[in-house]
Amino acid sequence: MIAFENVGLRYGHGPEILKDLSFSIDPGSFHFLTGPSGSGKTSLLRLLLLSLKPTRGRVTMFGEDVIKLDRDRLLQMRRHIGIVFQEFRLLDHLTTFENVALPLRVRGQSETSYRANVEELLDWVGLGDRMDAYPSLLSGGEKQRAAIARAVIAKPDILLADEPTGNVDPELSERLLHLFEELNRMGTTIILATHELALLDKFGYPRMLLNEGELVIHE
Ligand SMILES: Nc1ncnc2c1ncn2[C@@H]1O[C@H](COP(=O)(O)OP(=O)(O)O)[C@@H](O)[C@H]1O
Ligand SMILES: [Mg+2]
Repeated sequence: MIAFENVGLRYGHGPEILKDLSFSIDPGSFHFLTGPSGSGKTSLLRLLLLSLKPTRGRVTMFGEDVIKLDRDRLLQMRRHIGIVFQEFRLLDHLTTFENVALPLRVRGQSETSYRANVEELLDWVGLGDRMDAYPSLLSGGEKQRAAIARAVIAKPDILLADEPTGNVDPELSERLLHLFEELNRMGTTIILATHELALLDKFGYPRMLLNEGELVIHE
């Protein structure tokens, strides 16, 4: 589903951030992405999110060479990928319900067609009674559960998460990980960047370790 062959990435004329990455990721797998700050985790996720193209080498996603994709096809493929950020990135002027429904609204679906689905998902992430609240009234853990719901409402094949537990308490981190684990059980491929050792140890998924631009996978 995802294959990298000798992928290198640099920003502008700067140094190479990612060097010669070669790996593949099977559908339905769960990988942690780890490595020190500045090692390129976010950059690698941006390649996977199709918001960056590699400077050299080949990235294949869903069977297609991403270098060759035109803008329309990129946007189409992008719809099969969900993303969760450390800082939640909810829209403050929309309620929790509206934030989660947004990906469906931009796809042109009507509220009558998606209301029940959004409510069901909000119940599932434990926000059934917070649907009409604006993000400013939610706790960190609630914000991240809303962001996860928004990332998966359109049923992506791949869910990327960039340090999703970086802004929540340790005990909540573990609960969030259980949500990702459940989504993975339902078939979503997950790549989750974190440097929280407690999570890496407790959950035991294979680790993609970035260091000085190179990647090693510990299965
Ligand atoms: N947009 C950018 N332009 C130039 N350099 C960048 C940009 N984004 C990240 N970098 C550099 O790339 C390196 C890797 O950053 P990043 O991917 O954010 O690592 P991590 O997420 O592991 O902290 C860092 O040296 C960072 O300064
Ligand atoms: Mg980062």
